[in-house]
Order: sequence, then structure tokens, then C-alpha cells
Amino acid sequence: MIADYFDAPVDRRGTASTKWSRYGPDVLPFWVADMDFKAPPGLLEAVAERLRHGVLGYTDTPAPTQAAFIGWLRRRYGWEVSAEWLIWLPGVVPGMNLAGRVAGGDSLLIPTPVYHPFLAVPRHAGKASITVALTLQDGRWVMDMERLEAALTPDTRALLLCNPQNPTGRVYERSELMALAELCRRRGLTLVSDEIHCELVLDPTRRHIPVATLAPDLPTVTLFSPNKAYNTPGVGSAVAVIPNPALRLAFRRAFGGLISHTSPLAYAAAQWAYADETDWLPALNAYLRRNGDVLQDAVARLPGVAMTHVEGTYLGWMDVRELGLAAPAEHFERHGLGLNDGAAFGAPGFLRFNFGCPRATLEAGLTRLEGAVLAAA
Ligand SMILES: Cc1ncc(COP(=O)(O)O)c(C=O)c1O
Repeated sequence: MIADYFDAPVDRRGTASTKWSRYGPDVLPFWVADMDFKAPPGLLEAVAERLRHGVLGYTDTPAPTQAAFIGWLRRRYGWEVSAEWLIWLPGVVPGMNLAGRVAGGDSLLIPTPVYHPFLAVPRHAGKASITVALTLQDGRWVMDMERLEAALTPDTRALLLCNPQNPTGRVYERSELMALAELCRRRGLTLVSDEIHCELVLDPTRRHIPVATLAPDLPTVTLFSPNKAYNTPGVGSAVAVIPNPALRLAFRRAFGGLISHTSPLAYAAAQWAYADETDWLPALNAYLRRNGDVLQDAVARLPGVAMTHVEGTYLGWMDVRELGLAAPAEHFERHGLGLNDGAAFGAPGFLRFNFGCPRATLEAGLTRLEGAVLAAA
């Protein structure tokens, strides 16, 4: 895979793209988490081949898709799972909501800021939400275990984790995950972990570790999907890994007619992605790493804005509190930039910048970023 593939502009207007439909022609979108790159050619061909069969009926999980996923977990993360632990879904967010419902207790513990659909899970589950802010330590956002523990009620039974972390770009280390697992063990919590960004580790000193592999004794729900790293979120597919039989049964029963079939095209895409041994991921991550550095360098030159190093994901998390803006996202939009407002993630005064785009688009965005910051400073 050559860098040209990522440099090539693809016109997404006119495709009803969520990202590109939100704003008019004067605003460049760097918000919702999909990338402006075509999916890998091999994946597109696998979907086209399935399409050429011509009959697109209801589809059970194909055995080769299951085998590809099991092989991927073994190869990438040394995790041996059995096929019966796996429940395929049309998306990660439904899986997160099902887990929130079946995890028991009256409240869910959520470290924030976090991908905004997490914050709706307690409401959907009829439970209370307990949020605990990450703290900035030596330039990195970390979970404060003491504050997490102090926030628990006697009837809290689950914690919702996002790792790699959207929006801060953290890839939690083994010691942090071990401490979290220990907290869950001590306080009888089910650990629900969204690991959708696991293949997007940009910092070569970091390694993704599925938290469930560190705590096989705990009830865990781990959610994976190929859709971020292979840029197929519109195709939709995810898989929940639930080793505990009782939890798995409850999860499946909670479908309750609300979860639809996974599409045969989604299975074809997932199967290709989980069997992928091309240079797609190394090339993509190298390109994104450079984009993240370019963004970080640009932000470092601007007054009143701070950004932490992105270890994983393609999301920059910018602290604009010093600019004193009442509505930060609206201010940047007036300067031609479509960004996510941190308030939706539980952190007003922050903005999320999606740098999964050709470098030329990013550079055009950075010129606008500078103009917006200087106008506010
Ligand atoms: C952390 C995280 N989880 C889940 C999703 C969405 O998952 P899905 O579209 O499979 O429901 C996203 C998309 O941005 C995400 O960043």
C-alpha cells in the first residue's frame, strides 16, 4: 500500500456521507470518526465478490468469518477464544447498550471524557450514570483508581471502558489495565470494554492489550469491529467476546427483537479484514502517525490551545479552555472547521479533531485552525 492511496482526494459529497453532509461547502469536516480514505482494494473486491453472487438473503455468521476473527485474536493479541463466546452484531454501540442492560446493578461507572454514545447507555438501561473524569498526569490522560473506586455505590455492577480511548487517544498500558481489573474484581464489577480502535496504535512504543486477557476470571464483554481500521463504518459489523456463559446468555436474550441481522456484505468485509496480512495497517498507521504529528506541531505553535500526544486512534483532543469561548465548536465552524464539541463527550472547553484524511485536507484545515485561534486569542 503506497502513501499515494491516502493522499488521493476522494469526493464524498453527494454520497449522503454523514461527515460531509452536515456543513455547507465553506466548512471542512473533521468531526465524526470515519476517514476520507477508500477501504483497502482487497476488501472492496471481497465485498464485490459477495455482491456478484446476487442473492443477499439473511445470513448466519459464516464459518470462515468466525475462523478469521478467532485467528486474528490469536495472532495479534495471543487471545484464545472459542467460537461459542462470540456474538456478532451490526455495530459496537448496540453491543455497549446490551451490555449496559445485562450487567446488573443500579448504576454504571464511566471514565470521561468518552465517545458520546457511552453517556446515553445508563439512560437506555434505566440506570444511574456515574462519571469520573480522567486526570492529566505528565501530559497523559489517566484513570484515577482511587476516585473511580470512591465514586462507586454499593449497587454499581459495571464499568464501561474505551480503549484505545476516544477522544483522548490514549492506549492504556498493562499496569493501568491491571489496576482497573483489580478494582473490578474487588468491587464485583463486570468490565465492558470497547476496543474498536485497537488496530490504530500510532505510537510505536505502545501496544494494545485486550483487558479481558489480563482478567480471565472477571465477567467481561469485549467489543471489536473492523470498521475503524478498515474504514467501513457504513457497512456495519461488530463482535462481542463474552467468555462467561451466564453473561453471554443474558446478552443474547436482551436482543429482544431489537438487534437486526448482520449483513452478508458486512461479514465479507470483516472476514477480509480479520484475515488481512497485507501492508494496509502498517501503511495506514504510518500515514496517520504523520498526520497526528503535523496536527500536534501546528497546535503547539498556537496560543491558548493544548493537545496531548495521540498514542492511538485518529483523533486529536484539544483543550481550548484558555480561549474563553462560550461555544467553541460554533466559533471554529464560523472559521470553516467542523469539529466535535467536547461537551458531548463530558468535557466542555475541548474539541475533537479527526485527522483521518489526506494530508492536503489536513493542511487546509490547519490554516483555518490558526485563523480561528488567532481570532479568539
Ligand atoms: C469508541 C467507539 N466505539 C464505537 C463506535 C461506533 O461503533 P459502531 O458504528 O460499530 O456502532 C465508534 C465510532 O466512532 C467509536 O469511536
